[in-house]
Amino acid sequence: MSDQIKQKILDLSREINKHNHLYYVENAPVISDYEFDQLLKELEELEAQHPEYAFDNSPTKRVGGDITKKFNTVTHNYPMLSLSNTYSEDEIRDWEARVKKLVSGNPNYVCELKYDGVAIGIRYENGELKQAVTRGDGTQGEDVTTNVRTIRTIPLTLNSEVPEEFEIRGEIFFPLENFSKLNKKREEAGEELYANPRNTASGTLKLQNSKVVAERGLDCYLYGVYGPDLGFGSHSEAVKSARKWGFKTPDPDKNMITECQSIEEIMEFIHYWDDKRKKLPFEIDGVVIKVDSYEQQDELGFTAKSPRWAIAYKFKAEEVRTRLNEVTYQVGRTGAITPVANLEPVLLAGTTVKRASLHNQDQIEKLDLHIGDKVFVEKGGEIIPKITGVDLEFRGEAKERVEFIKNCPECETELVRKEGEAQHYCPNDTGCPPQIKGRIEHFISRKAMDIDGLGPETIDLLYKEGLIKNYADLYDLTFTQIVNLERMADKSANNAIASIENSLQTPFERVLYALGIRHVGETVAKKLAQHFKSLENLANASFDELIAVDEIGEKIAVSIQDFFQNEEHQQIIDRLRRIGIHFEIEEQEDASDKLKGLTFVISGVFEKVSRNELKELIEKNGGKNTGSISAKTSYLVAGENMGPAKLEKAEKLDVKIISEDDFLSMIES
Ligand code: IVH
Repeated sequence: MSDQIKQKILDLSREINKHNHLYYVENAPVISDYEFDQLLKELEELEAQHPEYAFDNSPTKRVGGDITKKFNTVTHNYPMLSLSNTYSEDEIRDWEARVKKLVSGNPNYVCELKYDGVAIGIRYENGELKQAVTRGDGTQGEDVTTNVRTIRTIPLTLNSEVPEEFEIRGEIFFPLENFSKLNKKREEAGEELYANPRNTASGTLKLQNSKVVAERGLDCYLYGVYGPDLGFGSHSEAVKSARKWGFKTPDPDKNMITECQSIEEIMEFIHYWDDKRKKLPFEIDGVVIKVDSYEQQDELGFTAKSPRWAIAYKFKAEEVRTRLNEVTYQVGRTGAITPVANLEPVLLAGTTVKRASLHNQDQIEKLDLHIGDKVFVEKGGEIIPKITGVDLEFRGEAKERVEFIKNCPECETELVRKEGEAQHYCPNDTGCPPQIKGRIEHFISRKAMDIDGLGPETIDLLYKEGLIKNYADLYDLTFTQIVNLERMADKSANNAIASIENSLQTPFERVLYALGIRHVGETVAKKLAQHFKSLENLANASFDELIAVDEIGEKIAVSIQDFFQNEEHQQIIDRLRRIGIHFEIEEQEDASDKLKGLTFVISGVFEKVSRNELKELIEKNGGKNTGSISAKTSYLVAGENMGPAKLEKAEKLDVKIISEDDFLSMIES
């Protein structure tokens, strides 16, 4: 029996790995997403029932979930060197001429893209991914294996004949589409936006929760294979083999990698990508030229930091110099303050630039900005241009140093900056006009209450007329009040009233998102709604109960508690409740309240149901799940291999300990 199960798990894993490769690396899936999900679900269930066979490289690890407490330091088997680089075509010509002189025979070259991400070295043993390590200082890096396993294009198990042991190196990067999705989500949650894909990729790789890493959607291109006796004679052979083994390598048909014989061909590749790089779905900062033959590479050798057989040609980020006229400050809907540089208009990369984001106080201080400075403005990967430095030659013309404001530019309230955060906030969330209007705009937005017919200008007018001061006021608006506004026609006023009325049907999870609690975006709102079922439960949840919910961290928990403790918020919520807004999730069919008022902690591994199913059963029957045992815990549901500390604590606090079967009969009876 157990052998059969083990075999089934292996077969399923192989099948899933195959389809994963077809989908993510080859872009040529042969089964539907639904069929793929079914296979994965089947494997997940088998593994939950037989955790002893759930191996480290199981495709179920792709979705993450494992937490890395500390990233261990690992010494590289082969030092991770850097590349010498240049912005000058002449220097590329000099390099090529030197290479030709130093090697015996005529050198061939491989030209590749220089991916703008984070270097990674991944070790495989007997075809299994063993360890993934960051570059670190080149000699030692950090073990980020758990997070790297979530990257779909990196194979966990290799199929074909591969060397017993080898290390593959490449670059992990943030695809632009996924990067903007992430920022959009952050914007919706009222959080500070990430500045660029490269730094965010690097930060993501160091996140402790691999589930978050999995969701962000990093990707990876491979550019080198290392190991004893690999049997290749050249870099191009190595890359081709890596492709056969299942790795994502650059596509020669798209000219992302090319073999060439002359400096002219090298230049052609450089010019091609200088022009086309903006069309790529990820960022590159240049191209890399490598001598192909390993023998010739050995002849050339290394300098202290980099190989002589390779060089990077870097593209210039487009940059101009202009005058800093003024720094103004924007107040977002969550009160976040963003300093903005107002510039003497200047043409950059085809558009006229008048403003640049300065992010926060630290950024201003780092640049030591003065009004009147001549600043360098660059349009690199970022959508918004950024100031990269000050031309000190012109400092004489500059006036006073830019001091970050102390009070809100809109309502004069003194700003706060929480420890560990870069952003300043205006704490006057119920009295500061842009925050009030921003919250109402968020409330009516499509993914929230979906009220149409009221654009930002109308909200502004309604606010100025004193007709709305918060989102509950929307429900007191009359047709006459709206139609009397400037430029408002009967039809749009009717439309707005009908749409406000309709919004009463909005399901709870979207209502929760609409409330605009800081850090509670669409996904978090969904999670919270499913878990707590009602606004009342959520408002009464303790800090521990909040952080016990999947994906809810301390920052979100604090923000939720702050929100509900605020008296004005309480009053608004009371009004919305009376109006008839859905503050409860629609009841599920097989739900009951058998466990109402009871709090559970589950620990260990179970036989009949998985941990997740157990949690669902508790919630479906009206009970509460928490992560740690306290005097308030009603039951500890104990499985196999439960931690001794939990057991001890439960005994000390006199918490009832029950088995899986005991629990199941509680909900059956
Ligand atoms: S080869 C011994 N190839 O650039 C040199 N590196 O400045 C091995 N990079 O740390 C590197 N694309 O993270 C190589 N096609 C490519 C690359 C590439 C990006 C990065 C890599 C390395 C840095 C060196």
